[in-house]
Amino acid sequence: MYVTSLEFENYRNLTRDVIYPQRDINVICGENAQGKTNLIECLWLFTGGRSFRGSKDNDLVRFGEKTARIKLCFYSSGREQTIELEIGGGKRRPVLNDVPKNSVSQIIGSFCAVVFSPDHLTLIKSGPEGRRNFIDAAICQIKPSYAVILSRYRRILSERNALLKEIPRHRELEDTLDIWDDRLSREGAIIAYERFSYVQELSVQAGKFYEGISRGREILSMKYRTNCGAESGMDKKEIASLTFEALRKRQNDDILCGYTTVGVHRDDLNVRIDGRETRLFGSQGQQRSAVLSLKLAEAYLLGEKKGEAPVILLDDVLSELDLSRQEYLLNRLDGMQVFITCCEPALNAVNVISVKNGTISAEAGASQPAAEDTRDLARE
Ligand SMILES: Nc1ncnc2c1ncn2[C@@H]1O[C@H](COP(=O)(O)OP(=O)(O)O)[C@@H](O)[C@H]1O
Ligand SMILES: [Mg+2]
Repeated sequence: MYVTSLEFENYRNLTRDVIYPQRDINVICGENAQGKTNLIECLWLFTGGRSFRGSKDNDLVRFGEKTARIKLCFYSSGREQTIELEIGGGKRRPVLNDVPKNSVSQIIGSFCAVVFSPDHLTLIKSGPEGRRNFIDAAICQIKPSYAVILSRYRRILSERNALLKEIPRHRELEDTLDIWDDRLSREGAIIAYERFSYVQELSVQAGKFYEGISRGREILSMKYRTNCGAESGMDKKEIASLTFEALRKRQNDDILCGYTTVGVHRDDLNVRIDGRETRLFGSQGQQRSAVLSLKLAEAYLLGEKKGEAPVILLDDVLSELDLSRQEYLLNRLDGMQVFITCCEPALNAVNVISVKNGTISAEAGASQPAAEDTRDLARE
């Protein structure tokens, strides 16, 4: 899968332009705060995922403007496809291959990408939420229906939490908790089951990449850890009944806390090197290598499940990695379309997209369309 053109209008500081990337490596070059990450983020949004910077939709629209419009032409499944997104009023309105869709969840799985930013480098060290989001985002692209289950779970969870806060004032509501526990444990079991299966495959692949990076000196392994006692290999029914029991046991504590203290929203991904927890005992270098392996494994699995390689977005990570890790990463990405940001002008890069104050100047033909000019947005 590869991007053939990207058009944007009023997306963050990017005013209005179109770029025509190459099929291999595209270097997005420019000084600080010029719009390089914005361009990477813009590409990422076509996966249907949320901004990897955690921004709200309104933040994506250029200051002082009401709407941002972006359009991606890409080649996938043997044909040219398009996704358009209009962002404004706190919403994203997608159009996939000229067909308007009700929500962005309906475009998930069409354009697939893996993004790797400096924030990911702390994936191992920081809290479990980032690791859960990492697994969830990866599964969503492989299995778009998973996004629907996730949002259903979040809705049930917030309703249960609202109920927990009501109960101290209305004790009679306590009896209704079981209904929510039942619903939450059934949705949660599907999530835990999918995460177990994904992490099992991820662990094998990431282990292979880590072996390569460490030249066979260390072994990386991973495990998805639930807080209800569910284990890998259990079916959804078993996981659901364990979750239900755990929720019931915690009902009194949850009422005191005013929120739900067990469930898949509190689970974690445990990463070990030579059997020791990397978060606690790994050096910074080991933690970075582990994240690099995780990201490469994510790209590998996505490519394997989809039958074609995803587009790779690397935001400022090269400068954070030492030479041998840089080399390892770029070698592994051979054959995929890659977008890399960097501050220094890359002398030997073939395709350089220069970004200055939100405008693009392509130095080696990046803004020259391969065939006819297809600047739809610019023409309107
Ligand atoms: N909604 C927005 N409207 C206009 N400018 C924005 C918006 N959001 C961010 N910016 C600007 O974008 C610039 C940062 O762009 P970014 O892509 O992060 O830079 P870098 O090239 O360092 O990666 C900043 O100058 C910031 O003020
Ligand atoms: Mg940046």
